[in-house]
Amino acid sequence: MDITLRSGELHAQASELWAVGLFEGEGGFSPALRALDALLGGRITQLVEAGDVKGKAKELTLLYPFGALAAQRLLLVGLGKRESVTAEVVRSAAGLAARRARELELAAFDCEVLGATELGSANAAQAVAEGIGLGLYEFTRLKSDAKASKLQAVNLYLPGGADRAAAEAGLAAARAIIAGVTLARDLVNLPANIATPTYLAEQAAEMASRTGLACRVLERAEMAELGMGALLAVAQGSNEPPKFIILEHNAGRGDLETLVLVGKGITFDSGGISLKPGDGMERMKTDMAGGAAVIGALRAVAELDLPLHVVGLVPATENMPGGRAYRPGDVVRAMNGKTIEVISTDAEGRLVLADALCYAARYQPKAVVDIATLTGARTIALGNHAIGLFSTDDGLIARLDAAGIKTWERVWAMPMFEEYADDLKSFSADLKHTGGRPAGSIVAAMFLSKFTNYPWAHLDIAGLASTETDLPYTPRWATGIGVRLLVQFLRDWHTESP
Ligand code: BES
Ligand code: MN
Ligand code: ZN
Repeated sequence: MDITLRSGELHAQASELWAVGLFEGEGGFSPALRALDALLGGRITQLVEAGDVKGKAKELTLLYPFGALAAQRLLLVGLGKRESVTAEVVRSAAGLAARRARELELAAFDCEVLGATELGSANAAQAVAEGIGLGLYEFTRLKSDAKASKLQAVNLYLPGGADRAAAEAGLAAARAIIAGVTLARDLVNLPANIATPTYLAEQAAEMASRTGLACRVLERAEMAELGMGALLAVAQGSNEPPKFIILEHNAGRGDLETLVLVGKGITFDSGGISLKPGDGMERMKTDMAGGAAVIGALRAVAELDLPLHVVGLVPATENMPGGRAYRPGDVVRAMNGKTIEVISTDAEGRLVLADALCYAARYQPKAVVDIATLTGARTIALGNHAIGLFSTDDGLIARLDAAGIKTWERVWAMPMFEEYADDLKSFSADLKHTGGRPAGSIVAAMFLSKFTNYPWAHLDIAGLASTETDLPYTPRWATGIGVRLLVQFLRDWHTESP
């Protein structure tokens, strides 16, 4: 998809379709829309006065001007009340408009930079482009009869007085972010027989060589040498070799601050010996969504060339009940020397993350953020609209909260009272790796905290990696959640003061 900024007046532009924003209520028309309305003899005003068109958020109205305009079609894109417009409103509106243009089988369409006056040129251009680029995502590579979408190009027009250079910068950011989210969605959508740990490592390496990131992949023997006994215990039951993927932006730049992202990369979670019920088990191919988010975020970070040393770590393995599989009751030793009594082999995510969090310490990071489809309890606590955030660092909580609101990948901080760790006391080892059912997400986070010795935050995205229904700019299945949040968090590292 080619999204380009064009100059010129919308109403003078011959087009298959113009998409034009409309706010709800008094003064809902932009100057461009007023000009179009005049050319149509006030018919848009009539529709609004009659109440047929309201300008509500997510409302689309397709009009056929039959020669009265230079455009064959006019799509009125509702934006809600002008005073309450946000980047999220604009992303959603743009995503819906682009999908409508695709349904109409157009090759190209022309679109206003919606909300430019209200949000500023950079934010509005980024939001519009993201909505379009993310909304048009399709996963068709495993369909034999897939038809390529006709829609190849979108031209964006700024209102008079907007800052063109800022809009170009917003557009460039959107391109990097779209590429990162697309990569993450593809990796999550791919089934576990294709997206194995080896495949993830290959894709990460290939992406790194194209974008200038450094990439290293540790093999089983190197993990053993490092003492990653928790990760290797999980990998034991699978015939797929585990991979520990390391991506680095600005590797070796000692003058830059170091931030580490860690993503859970379980390419299939059968539960292991503590086997999951069969119903819905196919969804467990999404259990590497945290890892996919880290790989996607690093792709965007590279393209944006952020002035930070950013490390991405993805411990990747399957969790399978093979003959050599680890068992409930086994005691394993993590890289920091702590012994862990395994209770349920289905709590594998915290084991692979434990070793990855230990490994992260070698970078002496300013902060580490991990992201994982970690606990079903996350869905019970927060449903579909908040990522579980676990941290004792108020600065990190504030930064992630701010990034969450900007990207609408919102987070909600949960308590990390030390008493929650009481459930992890073990008779035989330093700690158990699960407690009971109460506060399952918090207890999991308390477990992870025992493997950190730097400012740290944990993001639980279980249940959020895929969606059963089309959302305005997130089509059905893999959401790519976390990429935009993490990239925003990193872009704001030097500007936001918590
Ligand atoms: N990958 C699952 C968590 C999950 C559940 C992700 C539902 C997406 C949707 C994780 O490995 C898991 O199995 N967690 C267990 C932990 C329990 C055994 C302590 C859970 O949540 O039930
Ligand atoms: Mn599990
Ligand atoms: Zn899992």
